[in-house]
Amino acid sequence: MCGIVGYIGPRDVTGVLLDGLRRLEYRGYDSAGVALVEGDKLVGTKRVGKLGNLEEALRKHPLTGTAGIGHTRWATHGRPSDTNAHPHLDCKQRIAVIHNGIIENHAMLRADLLEKGHTFSSETDTEVVAHLLEDVYAGDIVDAVRKVLGLVRGAYALGVLSADNPDEIVFARNGASPLIVGIGKDEMFVASDIPAILEYTRKELIIQEGEIVVIRRDGASITTFNGEHVEREVTHVAWDVRSAEKGGFKHFMLKEIYEQAKVVKDTLAGRLDEQGGVKLPDIGISDERLLKMRKVTMFACGTAYHAAVYGMYLIRQLAKLPVELELASEFRYSDPVVEKDTLAIAVSQSGETADTMEAVRMAKAGGATVLGVCNVVGSALARAAHGTLYTHAGPEIGVAATKTFVAQCVAMALLALHLAKVRGTADPDVLREVGLALRDLPSLVDQALNTNEDAIAAARRYSKATSILFLGRHVNYPIALEGALKLKEISYIHAEGYAAGEMKHGPIALLDENVPTVVIATRGPVEEKVLSNMAEAKARESRIIAVANPGDHEVLETADDILEVPATHHLIAPIVNVVPLQLLAYHIADRKGCDVDQPRNLAKTVTVE
Ligand code: AGP
Repeated sequence: MCGIVGYIGPRDVTGVLLDGLRRLEYRGYDSAGVALVEGDKLVGTKRVGKLGNLEEALRKHPLTGTAGIGHTRWATHGRPSDTNAHPHLDCKQRIAVIHNGIIENHAMLRADLLEKGHTFSSETDTEVVAHLLEDVYAGDIVDAVRKVLGLVRGAYALGVLSADNPDEIVFARNGASPLIVGIGKDEMFVASDIPAILEYTRKELIIQEGEIVVIRRDGASITTFNGEHVEREVTHVAWDVRSAEKGGFKHFMLKEIYEQAKVVKDTLAGRLDEQGGVKLPDIGISDERLLKMRKVTMFACGTAYHAAVYGMYLIRQLAKLPVELELASEFRYSDPVVEKDTLAIAVSQSGETADTMEAVRMAKAGGATVLGVCNVVGSALARAAHGTLYTHAGPEIGVAATKTFVAQCVAMALLALHLAKVRGTADPDVLREVGLALRDLPSLVDQALNTNEDAIAAARRYSKATSILFLGRHVNYPIALEGALKLKEISYIHAEGYAAGEMKHGPIALLDENVPTVVIATRGPVEEKVLSNMAEAKARESRIIAVANPGDHEVLETADDILEVPATHHLIAPIVNVVPLQLLAYHIADRKGCDVDQPRNLAKTVTVE
C-alpha cells in the first residue's frame, strides 16, 4: 500500500518527510516523492525505485519550505516511473496531491478534464484529483477539496498542498486507507501509519472514514465531507515502532489475514456493480479476442496454483471452456499443446516466479493469448502478458501468502464471470447470483475472522500433531490444498491437501487418533458426499476439525472442532472458507514458536528454477 506523510512546522520539512517515508518503507513501494510550499510556490522532487534515489536527488537539489507532503507509491494504475510517482500537480503547478487507494471513476473524470483543456503528465488515477481541484478552486483549498470529494468515487486517503494556502495542508479519508494526525508543539504531522510520526509525538488523532482534516501549525480541525465539525479525542500511542509497523499485530501474516476484507474490496473496485454485474475494462484483452478462445490453459506455483485450481472450476462451470491446468514447473516439460486459440492464464502475485515466467514464454511461443493475474504493476509477468488482471492486495510482507491468495481467487471469480458474459454461456440469473455473492464477500471475509478464538483453541489441541490431512471437494478442493500448504510452510508440520473423494484411495490408511482431519464441509452440491468422507475419517478415530456453516447439525454433531463461517453461494464460499484455515495454521505455528513471517528455507519470490 502507498505511504502518506505531511508536516507543517518549524523543523526541516524535507528531513521530516523523508524520515516519515523511511518509516513506511516496510509497506512496500516502487517510487517516492515530496512537494513543499516555498514562499509563494510549490517545489518538489519524485523518483522511481527506492527512497535512496529520492534522497540522492534531494542531496543534489535540496528543497526547503514551511509545509510539505511526501508519498511512497505502490503502483495500481500506471507502471512505476518518475512521472507516475506522487505528488501530482495541476496544470498551473499550484496544487499538489498524494493519494493512497483507488479512484474508481478516474477514466471518466480524466476524459471530462481533457475536454476542458487540462493536460496530464502521468498514467495515474490520482492526477485527476489535482486537475479537479484546479477546476473548482476559488481561493479556499478546503472548500475545493470538499467539492472534489463529491466527484470522485472509490476508497482513498488524500493529501493536498496548495501554494496559495501555505499555512494549511488538507487530508481526506474515504474507505480503509488509514490516516493518523500527530500533534506536536507548534507543529503538526500526518501519516498513513503510526511509525512515521512516533519519534516526534505519541499524541495522535485517528481520522475516520468520510472525514477531512486540515492541519495548521497551531492544531488540526476535522469535519465530515459535508462540513459538520467533528470532535476527536486525542489518543496516546504506547506501541514501539516495530509493533506499530504491524499495526499492533504480533506478525505481518496475522495483520495481512485481517486486511483481507479490504483487499477483496480493492480488487473488486471498479469491476463489479451493485447488481453483481462484472466489467473488466482494464485487462488489455478485447472481448472479440476472448471470444476466439477455444481452450484455457492455466499454470502457476504454490499458493497461486491453488487459486488457479479454484479458477478452473469456475471457468469450466460458467464459461463452458475446457481448462487444462498444470504446475508451471511441470508445464515446461510436459510438451503442452498450445495454439493461437488458447487463452493461457498465468497466476503469480509477484509476477517474477521463474517457473511461471518460463511457462509464459512457452505459451507465447505457441501462439497463445496470455493473461497474467498479478499483484505487482510493471512486473515481468505484467510486461510479458498480452493483458493483466491486477489484484489489489498491496505488498505482502509475510512470506506465506494469505491476502494475495484471497485476491487471486476474487480475480478468478471476476474473470470466470466476465468470460461467461462475453461468451453468453451462463444463465444471467446465475451470473447475477454469483456476482451478488462477490459483492457481499468483503463482509463475509470479515465475519470469518470470528473463527479466530476457535482457531486458537484448535491450535492448542493439535499443535503437537505430526501430520494433518485436509479434505475438500470441488471448489473446496483447492482450499484443502491451500490450508495444508499454509500449515506445513509456517509450522513445519506435515500436512496433505486431498480431494475428499480420493481419501479412500489411499490416504485413509494414514488416519488414526494421532492424525487429525480438517474437512471443509460448507453448504453446496457436494456436501452430502463430504459428510460421508468425514464419517469415514471419524470411524478411523481421526479427530475432525470442520469448516462449517451455522446450523449444519450433522457436521456439528460429527466434528470434534468447528470453525464456523457465514454461508454464501457455493462458488464463492471457498474464499470465505480459507480464512479459518489461515488462522489455524498461524496459531499452530505461533504456539510452536516458529518464525511465522520468515519461515525457514522459504523465499517470498522464487526467481530460480
Ligand atoms: C505461498 O505461501 C508461498 N509463499 C509460495 O508457494 C508462493 O505462492 C509461490 O512461490 C508462487 O509465488 P507467486 O505467486 O509470486 O508466483
